[in-house]
Amino acid sequence: MAKRAIDSQSAGLARKDGASNPIAVLVVHGPNLNLLGEREPEVYGRARLADIDKELKQLGRELEMKVETFQSNSEGAIVDRIQKARGKTDVLLLNPGAYTHTSVAIRDAILAVDIPVIEVHLSNVYRREAFRHHSTIADVAHGRIMGFGAESYTLALRAARTIVESSRKRSD
Ligand code: DQA
Repeated sequence: MAKRAIDSQSAGLARKDGASNPIAVLVVHGPNLNLLGEREPEVYGRARLADIDKELKQLGRELEMKVETFQSNSEGAIVDRIQKARGKTDVLLLNPGAYTHTSVAIRDAILAVDIPVIEVHLSNVYRREAFRHHSTIADVAHGRIMGFGAESYTLALRAARTIVESSRKRSD
């Protein structure tokens, strides 16, 4: 479990000293997801990325979680953003887009930062072309959520809270 998650034993809940310590979640969207809403809506739905991000931040407020979002079409920028999250983020929600199927660099970044990752996809990749069935991060992710369109992200955010709460209970 990530260092921050262990350190933040009362993440998102009232601490004994009264201070609030919200669970920090970083959402990273990979290439072409900036075009959501316009791009193949029959596959990815009509929600725009800005709408998804807004909904995640709103849900985050309800669940006492601090949600930051990031999108890039570039593999290196995604690696940089994941590295920057080290020690500052409790859970990473990651939809690497097409890099899911090719990127060893993103997989290595996940292993390097030691933050639990939930792999998120709008579509159910197993109902699609065979080349989408392989994920370079599946076996290093804490879990995977796919096939629910934009709701995949909100389900993942709720799961992120569960991950941090369970780690807190284990270290009680
Ligand atoms: C995707 C699935 C990938 O295969 C594809 O390249 C994407 C989006 C999804 O969210 O369903 O860009 O990650």
